[in-house]
Amino acid sequence: MNEVLQNIKTRRSVRKFKDEQIAREQLDEILTAGLYAPSARNTQNWQLTVIQGREKLEELQAAVGEALEQPTYSGFYNAPTMVLVSTPEDYAFGAFDSSVVLENMFLAANSFGIRSVWVNQLMNTCDDIKVREVLTRFKVPEDHKVWGSAALGFAAVEVPDDRENKGVVEFA
Ligand SMILES: Cc1cc2nc3c(=O)[nH]c(=O)nc-3n(C[C@H](O)[C@H](O)[C@H](O)COP(=O)(O)O)c2cc1C
Repeated sequence: MNEVLQNIKTRRSVRKFKDEQIAREQLDEILTAGLYAPSARNTQNWQLTVIQGREKLEELQAAVGEALEQPTYSGFYNAPTMVLVSTPEDYAFGAFDSSVVLENMFLAANSFGIRSVWVNQLMNTCDDIKVREVLTRFKVPEDHKVWGSAALGFAAVEVPDDRENKGVVEFA
């Protein structure tokens, strides 16, 4: 099997991360892979916002938990790096474009042995007043919706390297 297919097949979502930070050089490659994603009409109007540092991550996670009315929310899974993917809220293809950015980043991360998971909760909480205040301080543009986030780090759990596929393929 070639390396690209091997990488696609071994990417798994991880939900428990070590404290260890990922290297800046690899993060830069991961972000660049995201920026190479396709976009509708080549719009590329996304922003990737990198958040690192326990204090910042916990502040945002707590604000999301508050907005969700889940005080124990821990859906960032202790990841040392989060990358938020956002586009202008009124851009019709924001969810699609952001999704391919995220998958490119997940695959690039996996190629370095860096694990990942999609974190979805900002999609519905980014316009909460408190969450938005934190996002603005963290440089997410006010008119942007956060469509999804990549939690990145090293796995603190065993990661299965394959899974059962339930999707359907038909040849007409
Ligand atoms: C649109 C989307 C939203 C997701 N949101 C979350 C999330 O908020 N938290 C989470 O732990 N996993 C989330 N996931 C990850 C899926 O649960 C995961 O991809 C799926 O269970 C398959 O497992 P795998 O990624 O290991 O192959 C999301 C995935 C997608 C595509």
